[in-house]
Amino acid sequence: MSMVSFRCPHCGQSLAAGERTFSCPSGHQFDRAREGYVHLLPSGRLAGGPSGDDDTMVRARRAVFDAGCYDPIIDAVATAVQATGADDVLDAGCGEGTYLARACAGGAHGWGIDISKVAVRLAARRYPQCSFAVASSYRLPFDDASFGAVIDVFSPRPFDELLRVLRPGGAAVVVTPGADHLAQLKALVYDTPRPHVDDEPTPPAVDVVEVRFSVDLAEPTLRRQLLEMTPYWWSADDARRARVEAALTSVDAHMVMTTYRR
Ligand SMILES: C[S@@+](CC[C@H](N)C(=O)[O-])C[C@H]1O[C@@H](n2cnc3c(N)ncnc32)[C@H](O)[C@@H]1O
Ligand SMILES: [Zn+2]
Repeated sequence: MSMVSFRCPHCGQSLAAGERTFSCPSGHQFDRAREGYVHLLPSGRLAGGPSGDDDTMVRARRAVFDAGCYDPIIDAVATAVQATGADDVLDAGCGEGTYLARACAGGAHGWGIDISKVAVRLAARRYPQCSFAVASSYRLPFDDASFGAVIDVFSPRPFDELLRVLRPGGAAVVVTPGADHLAQLKALVYDTPRPHVDDEPTPPAVDVVEVRFSVDLAEPTLRRQLLEMTPYWWSADDARRARVEAALTSVDAHMVMTTYRR
């Protein structure tokens, strides 16, 4: 049984999970949603602020993963996480939960947080064996040194916070887009496509793996769904969208999986 628990956003004490609510010793209470997740963002925190991925993006990503299009990276993350032997695994910015569930298929307990309520709801509904909360990666609702492994895929990466919740010797497995990621899509959307440049400061890495694969988009529904899960799609006008939908029958994925250790 997992020794990890969510932490109260008001006082920082452990939250005990009941059937209907999560509560701390000081009496702060949080409803458990029908799907099992808990909402731990301080109320009002999001008014006018970022609310994370919306329903269309989350459902599009789920459909693309279900079709197997991203299996090479989902499996690479799962293998890296399972190699750590972690009992408890956190996915910070977990989205609809597939990476976390696959990484925990070996028996670890999965903990997923995301600021998108629609994403967390979808994750909790399909993966009841994992624990999910609406929360921010910038203020993770966990004690220091809680996890043997932390996953972060294409999500905000506050390294101080990610490393804080790792046990000594634990690993953070972080996936970012590589320079050639979705190049054919970018070429159709932008007049002068620029390669993705990653210049965020990071701690020293212990392992860096480039993962490249081709995504078959012969199926038009899938084409539309892969487009909807990317930011490029949302910045394109109708003419460009139509061009992409008509022409993009396959696209190259290029991702960088980097491991950091606490
Ligand atoms: C590109 S999606 C990746 C989702 C998932 N990791 C995946 O690869 O399928 C980025 C995710 O980060 C979430 N997000 C954005 N800001 C966040 C924050 N401050 N804390 C936690 N999650 C955040 C979004 O809601 C979204 O689910
Ligand atoms: Zn409390």
